Amino acid sequence: MKTNSVWAIVPAAGIGSRMQADRPKQYLDLDGKTVLEQTIQRLASHPRIAGIVIAIAEHDSWWNNISLDFDCQLHTVDGGDTRADSVFNALIGLADLTDPNDDPWVLVHDAARPCLRLQDIDQMLETLCHHDVGGVLGIPVNDTVKRVNDNLEIEETVCRQGLWRAATPQMFRLEMLTKALTSALEKQLAVTDDASAIELAGFQALMVAGHPDNIKITVPQDLALASLYLQQQREEA
Ligand code: CTP
Ligand code: MG
Repeated sequence: MKTNSVWAIVPAAGIGSRMQADRPKQYLDLDGKTVLEQTIQRLASHPRIAGIVIAIAEHDSWWNNISLDFDCQLHTVDGGDTRADSVFNALIGLADLTDPNDDPWVLVHDAARPCLRLQDIDQMLETLCHHDVGGVLGIPVNDTVKRVNDNLEIEETVCRQGLWRAATPQMFRLEMLTKALTSALEKQLAVTDDASAIELAGFQALMVAGHPDNIKITVPQDLALASLYLQQQREEA
């Protein structure tokens, strides 16, 4: 009998190369806390999340300096070479922490997305709790989309009907996601998100409409934007 317990997994073992900072982007300051603290604090404050497993890079020297203050269980595992490897390690870590019969829901959420709204988590849990597979928080594409060649010459306008940007959290059952990722990694298939592994395993995940301020901090300008979004969220509350 599967339970309705929910765990979060946070891949936080990247180097943030596109951010070009002196440290991995999850340790940059965002409104007086690190990006990673903001992200974890938010997940931990959701009443349905039983615990969080965080993948930290093996030689990370920043993790021990951050301060976290909440009741939620927190466990760390070593990250891997790619995001998929880091998530995989966290799934194995989580399996050790939970009863094999439970097969909890897992919300995989990027450390680099600190502006996730608790209402978006509610929306996912509500939409997906009876779903056979699970799903992904995303945003419809609203720009006109072009396909270009190597010389940046426009080849065509891609019809944006049905095109969505996949964000996180991505919510799946522990066992299904572990099997799907294991298979994708064994076959050395490139999976840039968790849903890709689920798709390759032949399952159909659902898209859940999220709020567009759930940005992934990727390039330097994103920090100011994230700060603005957090301020806006505080004013709304
Ligand atoms: N991540 C991870 N392990 C890796 C690579 C990425 O846990 N080996 C995490 C990152 O820390 C981030 C999330 O996966 O929270 C999304 O990845 P991305 O935004 O690409 O972060 P980085 O890989 O750190 O950045 P970049 O691609 O610019 O180097
Ligand atoms: Mg990356």
